[in-house]
Amino acid sequence: MSITRDEELIGMKKVSEAVALTLKEMRNYAKPGMTTKQLDNFGAKILSDFGAKSAPYLTYGFPGWTCISVNDEFCHGIPSNKRILKEGDLVNIDVSAELDGFWSDNGGSFVLGQDINQHQKLIEASREILHKAIYNIKGGVRISDIGHIMETEAKKRGFKVIKNLGGHGIGRSLHEQPDELLNYRNRFDQRRFKKNSVVAIETFIATTSSYTTELNDGWTMVGNKGGFMAQHEHTIVVTDGKPIVLTKMNEIWN
Ligand code: CO
Ligand code: CO
Repeated sequence: MSITRDEELIGMKKVSEAVALTLKEMRNYAKPGMTTKQLDNFGAKILSDFGAKSAPYLTYGFPGWTCISVNDEFCHGIPSNKRILKEGDLVNIDVSAELDGFWSDNGGSFVLGQDINQHQKLIEASREILHKAIYNIKGGVRISDIGHIMETEAKKRGFKVIKNLGGHGIGRSLHEQPDELLNYRNRFDQRRFKKNSVVAIETFIATTSSYTTELNDGWTMVGNKGGFMAQHEHTIVVTDGKPIVLTKMNEIWN
C-alpha cells in the first residue's frame, strides 16, 4: 500500500507493534523441551490480545498462527505437538497478522540456547544484510540494486541467497505489489521503490542451497541442496531518507 493519510500510518503502526512484540515475546519464551505448537499457542494469545488475526491463516488457510521452522526446515514450518525444540536448534519464527484492515509481517532466525551447532555466523550475516539493505532503500532506488547488495554481502561472508523467495509489498493484504523483492540482482527488473509505499523486506541467507522446495505437507520449505537458512524481516515505509522501520520493536537487530 501507499500511505496517503495519517490514519493509515497509525493503523500500520498498530498492527506492526502487534507482530513485532509477538515475535520478540515468542523468541524469549522458546525453551528446549517445548513443542513448536506450545510456542505457537503462546504467540496466538498475544496476537489475540491485540485483536490481531494470523495473516497466513486468513490468506492461505495456514494450519497455525505463526510459521515456526526448525533446522533443515527453511520456512513456512507448521507448528506441531510432535516437534520438540532442543538446545542449539536453528529456529525461525515468522509472525504476520491483520488488525483493523492493516497487515504487517516480520520474522527472525535465532539459536535456541547455546550455539552448539555453530549457526551464529549465518544468523549474524542475515541480520547485518537486512540492516544494510533497508538503510539503502529510499524513493527512487532500484529494487534490483537492493537485491544486488544482499547477494554481494552474502557472498562476502561465504553464504548464498535463496533465489525463489523474496520480500513483498504489504499493508491492505499480506502480499501486494511490488512483489518478488529478490535477494539478488534481476537485471530484467526495472522497478524502483516508491516513497510512502509499505514493503516487507526479508533476507534468505543459506549455507549450501540456492532454491527451496516444498515438502509433501504442502507448506514446509526445505533447501534443494540441504544445509541451513537464516531469515530476518521487517515491514518498512519508504521515504526520501531513512525508511520508517515499523516492526523495530521485535528487536531482531539488538
Ligand atoms: Co514476508
Ligand atoms: Co514473514
